[in-house]
Amino acid sequence: MDKIIITGNGPLCGEVRVAGAKNAALPIIAATLLSAEPMHISNVPGVRDIATVLQLIELLGAKVEREDTDLSLDCSTVHSVHAPYEMVKTIRASILLLGPLLARFGEADVSLPGGCAIGTRPVNEHIMGLQALGADIRIEAGYIKARATRLKGAQYTFDAPSVTATENLLMAAALAEGVTTLDNCALEPEIPDLAQLLCAMGAKIEGAGTSTISIEGVSTLHGTSHRVPPDRIETGTFLTAAAATRGDITVLDTAPDFLHHVLGKLEQAGCKMELGKDWIRLRTDGKRCKATNITTAPYPAFPTDMQAQFMALNTLAEGSATVVENIFENRFMHVAELQRMGADIELQGHTAIVRGKERLQGAPVMATDLRASASLIIAGLAADGETTIDRVYHLDRGYANIDTKLQELGAHIRRV
Ligand code: EPZ
Repeated sequence: MDKIIITGNGPLCGEVRVAGAKNAALPIIAATLLSAEPMHISNVPGVRDIATVLQLIELLGAKVEREDTDLSLDCSTVHSVHAPYEMVKTIRASILLLGPLLARFGEADVSLPGGCAIGTRPVNEHIMGLQALGADIRIEAGYIKARATRLKGAQYTFDAPSVTATENLLMAAALAEGVTTLDNCALEPEIPDLAQLLCAMGAKIEGAGTSTISIEGVSTLHGTSHRVPPDRIETGTFLTAAAATRGDITVLDTAPDFLHHVLGKLEQAGCKMELGKDWIRLRTDGKRCKATNITTAPYPAFPTDMQAQFMALNTLAEGSATVVENIFENRFMHVAELQRMGADIELQGHTAIVRGKERLQGAPVMATDLRASASLIIAGLAADGETTIDRVYHLDRGYANIDTKLQELGAHIRRV
């Protein structure tokens, strides 16, 4: 079991390139199941979740060829619609196979993903949406068994915005008969990106990126090529690490448009930002950040996937701030670990009150989920002494080579 050892070593400085977005690549890979023609995807991140979902679609019969960040997929040979629990439980995003398999093959047996560290992660919105399109869905022995000779276009309103439920319904409706109108859709940038891919495959979609999306179903979708957009959460993670260590970094190959709210919060904390078309520079001029309140909410508000990282910044900032987590019911597990490093955090339900300290102390800590791991790395980079982070497999699910990238920015960090 790998560990990461960090010794606080002052400001991060220099340039870093971010990879393609994990949470964009996952629905893009699922969408390749909708076509029997070859698909080519570039800028695919080398993270564990992507490797797992590729293994899963190979299990279904697809041909997968990978050359670094370039992927070629041929789903003409898919012969199974059964996504087994043993694989699905390791990556919840497998639920994204449900819509495409049902739309293309008329059936799908996808294991219920189960919960994860941050919450129960229900999939009722996915199921109710597909039922609205005429799918017959039964839950049997932990599996979602879905059948539909051909899905029929319909109107469906989500109870609450759900990123992957919106993506699932978008993919399913693309091959349904007739027009589908989805209301109360999630607005995350990964959704217009998925719609752009589906349209390049021949789908007819309007309104992706707004809360109402209309899809006119077609009978088949052809192959195409697509580039995965930059990872906005990896970008935010590096910027927050630079802020916490009072550094000066430039993030390259990114897209400032996808994280305006996070950039605004970093400016509120006292950081100086310069933005280009595909780069962001954050400078602190060596100054300690000011404590900044954050409240997570669906896009374009502050992303829940940046909450743990920004909390680490607040533990070191001047003053007190509140961190409110509104999306997931159990996304404060990094708090106990940060407290082991001397952080002053008081939990009151979904609100954490963080009183900033000049320094934290390095300590042995344990990663509990993907973004909590990043939060502990940020705290370790800015702490006095040595921090050892255990269970870093959580980190590898969503960050590729984060230790080597941080080394290039001057961090004393190594994997053992
Ligand atoms: C996506 O998860 C992301 N994952 C998550 O990133 C991210 O935290 C989340 O969106 C919110 O931005 C991927 O894109 C693969 P939701 P998703 O459905 O789609 C409730 C990471 O760190 N809900 O938008 O599962 C749900 O419980 C991961 O990269 C239902 O009640 O999130 C939550 O409270 C973690 N029923 C809220 O909606 C449903 O059927 C938003 O969840 C679906 C969701």
